[in-house]
Amino acid sequence: MTDVTIIAIDGPAGSGKSSVSQQAARALGYGYLDTGAAYRALAWHVLDQGADTADEAAVLAAASDFHYAISLDPDHYWVRVGDVDVTDAIREPRISDAVSGVARVPAVRAQVGDLFRALAAASDRPGVIIEGRDITTVVAPDAPVRILLTAAPETRAARRAAELTDHDAAVVARALHKRDMSDSAVVDFLTAAPGVEVVDSTDLDFAQTIDAVLGVVHDKLEAA
Ligand code: DC
Repeated sequence: MTDVTIIAIDGPAGSGKSSVSQQAARALGYGYLDTGAAYRALAWHVLDQGADTADEAAVLAAASDFHYAISLDPDHYWVRVGDVDVTDAIREPRISDAVSGVARVPAVRAQVGDLFRALAAASDRPGVIIEGRDITTVVAPDAPVRILLTAAPETRAARRAAELTDHDAAVVARALHKRDMSDSAVVDFLTAAPGVEVVDSTDLDFAQTIDAVLGVVHDKLEAA
């Protein structure tokens, strides 16, 4: 058993969950685990081997030889596969387009789910914020704090478009909708499971969203 406090945060693409989780972890002195990065790193590894992420057998073969490491330090974030630093490479559009292929394989999900629990349990910090799509429901359903961070699709698309200054807002909105559809075919992250607190950031700025998340964390930990 672990005495590391787990905070589980799920949400769709563009909800701001990565930056919000990272900042909330800093505020709490906790570790931060970005689980989407593991699926992205595996997709990178499959493509690096010249295989296709739509080919389940190739994905399983790559997963059996997947040497992945990630930093849980919210101030010093990196991701490695073997000796290669893939921190930036896993954000490339070719990976975003391919990643659903690896995330939909049940054996892969079981393997990385175990890895996430082990990584969090080994943290030298009092707690870890784990963020992803199925953390509140599958990876850490017993976590004392479980949050679904949402925002209206138009708000998420507008935020993404503002990040990618050279992109057309309508194109970004279509790409986001496509991601929502393929991601939600794997796991339902758009509805809160029983006991999961919803934080809707549609009308909140970044600082207000952090405050809302930290408010839930304090309430839940006090009650635990
Ligand atoms: O959050 P992200 O965009 O980096 O996630 C990358 C992909 O991994 C996305 O297609 C959803 C998937 N994912 C998942 O299936 N389960 C998680 N816990 C985290 C991410």
